[in-house]
Amino acid sequence: MKTGTKIYTKRERTEFKTSTGNAIVDYYTDAGPDYEAWSKNFNMHFGFALKRWDCLSREKMLERMNQVVLDSLTMKDGDTIVDMGCGLGATIRYGAYKYPNIKFKGYTITPWQVKQSGLLIQNMGLKNAEVLYGDYNQLAIEKNSVHGVFGLESICHADGTDKEGPLKEAYRILKVGGTFTMVDGFLKKPEHELAPSTKKMYKTVCENWALPSFGNINEVVYKMKQLGFKSIDVKEISWKVAPSAVHAPFVTLFFLVKSVLNGKKLKKESIKNLKACFTIFFLGMCRRSIGYYKITAKKV
Ligand SMILES: C[S@@+](CC[C@H](N)C(=O)[O-])C[C@H]1O[C@@H](n2cnc3c(N)ncnc32)[C@H](O)[C@@H]1O
Repeated sequence: MKTGTKIYTKRERTEFKTSTGNAIVDYYTDAGPDYEAWSKNFNMHFGFALKRWDCLSREKMLERMNQVVLDSLTMKDGDTIVDMGCGLGATIRYGAYKYPNIKFKGYTITPWQVKQSGLLIQNMGLKNAEVLYGDYNQLAIEKNSVHGVFGLESICHADGTDKEGPLKEAYRILKVGGTFTMVDGFLKKPEHELAPSTKKMYKTVCENWALPSFGNINEVVYKMKQLGFKSIDVKEISWKVAPSAVHAPFVTLFFLVKSVLNGKKLKKESIKNLKACFTIFFLGMCRRSIGYYKITAKKV
């Protein structure tokens, strides 16, 4: 997949910002285009490595993460799949291209992403993908109406360490028999039990990526059980993600040096992104406190 799509300029993107000063919207509107340095297809997540030399191709690992998420949903022709917090629609563009008989709907709270991903979808000629504006805590979707729902590195933006809002919403919109998948970084213990150095890195990542908190893996799973999800399968995939996470500090430094050499003045939100990207790699090494998980569950 190659996009070759016009990217909205800083001035054009300003029009899409909210007047409410929403930190998530501001962050993604300002730093959004920078993600092209991470992924030419704007995959705004980590990758999944399967083979030894996968680590050499970041884009391949990022696209494979899209496949891992879609495989977990057991989709069939005619199904509708919802992406909660779709960014620039990388996963649904990947899915729509590969599975033309499945309908993919992405939702994001960032208006610029709706516009920009619309262009990306149009340029790829995809008829079975759309990105809509919506808050995943309360989507304009009928209850019991979709076959699969997923959140890839997006539900971390929800309030609380149990991430109740989007989990409840996913359960509501899913048809009976439907699957929900959440892929994200999680705390393995409460924040107050983190070692001081880990806590410092954790706070840096949260503040700079506009995250209220990571989900706590135990609390999220407990909440899913309370909501009625069944067959909850929890897999730690930190080692599969690590080879792509290793790229983060290098991409960050390269981006920084390139910007300086080109005489570019970095935006506040870009600097925040660079700080978080650099820190996440070291935070990820605190294996007893932080892990990257794939959680899959059914509504029965
Ligand atoms: C790190 S990006 C991940 C994007 C995408 N899932 C991917 O992997 O490329 C997080 C996304 O979550 C979205 N988001 C955050 N809070 C949201 C909310 N309450 N409702 C809908 N989307 C939200 C942001 O706008 C952004 O698009």
